[in-house]
Amino acid sequence: MKVTTEFEQSAFDKADLKVVASYESKDKSSASHPWSDKALVKVFKETKASESFTGTEGEHIFFTGDKGEDVLVVGMGNKTKAKDEELRKAIANAYKAFSSKKYKTVAIDIASFNCVSKIAMATAITKESIGLTSYKFDKYFKEQKKSHIKTLSLFVNDKKAKKTIEKAISEIDNLTSSVNYARDLVNEAPNVLHSEEYAKRIEKDAKDNLKGVKVKTLGKAELKKEKMGLFLSVNAGSGYEPKLVHLTYTPKKVTKNTKHIALVGKGLTFDTGGYSLKPSASMAGMKFDMGGSATVYGAFRAAVLNGSPYKITCILGMTDNAVNELATMPDSIVKARNGLTVEILNTDAEGRLVLADCLDYACDLKPNTVINAATLTGACLVALGTEVCAVLGNHDKTVKSLLSSAKQSDEYMWQLPIIPEWRKDMKSNIADLKNIGSNRFGGTAKAAAFLENFIHEGVEWAHLDIAGVCDSQSHLPYCPSKGASGVIVRSLHRYLMNGK
Ligand code: BES
Ligand code: ZN
Ligand code: ZN
Repeated sequence: MKVTTEFEQSAFDKADLKVVASYESKDKSSASHPWSDKALVKVFKETKASESFTGTEGEHIFFTGDKGEDVLVVGMGNKTKAKDEELRKAIANAYKAFSSKKYKTVAIDIASFNCVSKIAMATAITKESIGLTSYKFDKYFKEQKKSHIKTLSLFVNDKKAKKTIEKAISEIDNLTSSVNYARDLVNEAPNVLHSEEYAKRIEKDAKDNLKGVKVKTLGKAELKKEKMGLFLSVNAGSGYEPKLVHLTYTPKKVTKNTKHIALVGKGLTFDTGGYSLKPSASMAGMKFDMGGSATVYGAFRAAVLNGSPYKITCILGMTDNAVNELATMPDSIVKARNGLTVEILNTDAEGRLVLADCLDYACDLKPNTVINAATLTGACLVALGTEVCAVLGNHDKTVKSLLSSAKQSDEYMWQLPIIPEWRKDMKSNIADLKNIGSNRFGGTAKAAAFLENFIHEGVEWAHLDIAGVCDSQSHLPYCPSKGASGVIVRSLHRYLMNGK
């Protein structure tokens, strides 16, 4: 399926299916039809079906136009209330309604869908929604189902907007391909995407697609040299080498004031829990435990492609958490890269151990800001459900900026506090720190309180716990109902483009 932007009416006229949007009236008794093709409005009003159509959000109806062409009318609800996310959802639902039918050419009347006031924005959101909704992870099926649609045209009846639309489309294409790239990584099976393969894939993608980005990969020997005892302790029971992938992007214009942002991601290609073994029902699905690293890489990728003004470092800590006779035993005391000792009371609290050494490594590069993302705690789902990402940190402005980026991207993010009592709870009586709190309460924030010990003085830091949102966002029609969501890549990308 090719998605094109068209400015000529003829592209709309000749499509097998025309897609138009309608809105409900104030009293909800009828609908308004701001369609580019006014003649079509007349035809629709003469159909029986139009009598009961009120333009409510989620409502849709097919009818046949006077030239025999099919038309899909999509209800958008109240025009004054419809915004970016309503548009994203309406397009996603419309795509689902027409992609299962046998149309070869489909044209969407963007002007009718323009509830966000800027036509370039409406076009870009439409393209984004189609890109996110049409995503499939089907490589393991014997046969891949091909879409009947050959071309899907976004018809814009405003030639003056061509330049701004092209720019918006190019940015959104870079973002959408990066969200889908992150989804592919998270969906990949853990026997295929182990740490060694994961590092290779990132190296190849960066080499092929991210011009000017430097890539350095550290393996077991280098991690030993770096004294990353915590990271290595998680890898101790694994059949695969641990990998730390370090990517660096430098913008075209650099001054001494150019802000340097470091991203750090948890890349547990599978989390069995280690000796603190997870029960089977909790273990299945733990291939997604590398979601934090896929998320930061996806955002990094999109920001590089879109020419972010900031210097950006991306650190991905990759290993699985497995069990063999060399696996770390609970009660072990291990020294971190920054010299602190950690009593590992639960080998299932492994993400924070990998992140701790990666955060210390990232801080050595003297960034202004460090943002990490991780599927870190089950407690995050208890606190915020499966729909909301948690943000915690040591710098209010950074947290606020992330919250604002999330809001602008229509992704749910909520701040949780880190309080002195929880910092104290992470202290061990026989080592500097322990890797779990003394009870199961406040688990998400206690994990953050642990991580804070590895952030250098003066570095602004925020931690995103994406355990709830990383997969199965079935409430979002533009996300697969099961599997990787790609959620938070868009928020982070926005932060990386204009984070203050
Ligand atoms: N990868 C898990 C976090 C997780 C659990 C995400 C369930 C999504 C659903 C993490 O490594 C983990 O196992 N955390 C433990 C920490 C505990 C031992 C303090 C948890 O949340 O149970
Ligand atoms: Zn774990
Ligand atoms: Zn984990």
